[in-house]
Amino acid sequence: MPRRPRLSRAARVQAAADVADLRRLARRRAPRMVFDYVDGAAEGERSMAMAVEAFDRVEFSPRVLRDVSEAPTEIEILGRRIAMPVVLAPTGFTRMMHRAGERAVARAAEQAGVPYTLSTMGTTTAGDVAAAAPGGWNWFQLYVVRDRGRNAETLALAADAGMDVLVVTVDVPVAGARLRDVRRGLTVPPSLRWSGALETLRHPAWWFDFLTSEPLRFATAEGAPDDLAGLTNLLFDPSVTIADLEWIRSMWQGKLLVKGVQRVDDAKELAEVGVDGIVVSNHGGRQLDRSPTPLELLPEVAQAVGDRTEVFLDGGVRSGADVAAGVALGARACFVGRAYLYGLMAGGEPGVTRVLDLLRAELVRTLQLLGVGGVQGLGPGVARLRGR
Ligand SMILES: Cc1cc2nc3c(=O)[nH]c(=O)nc-3n(C[C@H](O)[C@H](O)[C@H](O)COP(=O)(O)O)c2cc1C
Repeated sequence: MPRRPRLSRAARVQAAADVADLRRLARRRAPRMVFDYVDGAAEGERSMAMAVEAFDRVEFSPRVLRDVSEAPTEIEILGRRIAMPVVLAPTGFTRMMHRAGERAVARAAEQAGVPYTLSTMGTTTAGDVAAAAPGGWNWFQLYVVRDRGRNAETLALAADAGMDVLVVTVDVPVAGARLRDVRRGLTVPPSLRWSGALETLRHPAWWFDFLTSEPLRFATAEGAPDDLAGLTNLLFDPSVTIADLEWIRSMWQGKLLVKGVQRVDDAKELAEVGVDGIVVSNHGGRQLDRSPTPLELLPEVAQAVGDRTEVFLDGGVRSGADVAAGVALGARACFVGRAYLYGLMAGGEPGVTRVLDLLRAELVRTLQLLGVGGVQGLGPGVARLRGR
């Protein structure tokens, strides 16, 4: 029997046929606690499972005998054209997944022509992200911290770096209970004390990179506890209300999105106060378990406020077909979180690029098979959610 050739890591990343393949590579490369920090969610992980499962219930309704030789994916969001309806979601501690971290993700997004959102819990400064991807559309995500003056400073740094879209995340009044992190004793930065030499031997490349690269710390909080939940609860302000959006607005000249909306009435209130966009999201299931499933809630929110504000979907997107489904069911664009992190863990910047290439190819193919002449042709007529 001819043996299959042994591929280098880079070749395996290029050979990945879908995001699930990259997830498998990521699992092999990253230490278990790092992989689980990305892959896991809160409590029983029901919200996350349901967000993904909802996409399994999408049924497309293709048109035939249409000219689909072209299937343009460009769209306009928030007044600017992007290459496809995808936004890279904010993720904390991105340099923990791979030493190339936020810079790599921003560069891959720049190349692919989609926005990248830097998190407040980022491990690279806004200035460094902008320098890494000067031609990219770089956004900033804010968690309101208790020290109100610090929020203003953080926003000023983002604005100085040319970031002109602010995503205010509102579903973290307190930390969610990520049980995989508790069980694995995740600390930031990761420490070898819990795992010992065996773990190092299993993932030598990751640990070598980690121990020889710039120390992992995040831009906004020095000297805080090293467990994530403790850190979150110490820093984040649980008293934030919708009234604070006015105060945030006064500090921010650019567009303002609110991420973490999980009810139609909240969406209406936000549209009322004039936010530029709403992200229907439950934080990838990492906060409240048993929260509404974003894809299920999306059509109602889009129907209620889509004419007054831009509605985005976040959670469970793992393929370009998922992106098509999200747009068909009412989203302007879909945020993508874990999918690009799997790529990053599997292979750094080329891994993120591979994810974006896959999403694009899958989206184009889906549009063609659906018989719609591009993203503009997506609508409720071509997709429905079964089991509703
Ligand atoms: C490892 C990880 C870290 C995250 N960190 C943040 C963050 O700092 N700020 C934020 O608003 N959302 C954060 N999120 C949530 C994502 O922005 C996004 O809502 C979620 O990943 C979407 O679900 P998906 O992973 O199924 O695409 C994080 C998600 C993951 C997986």
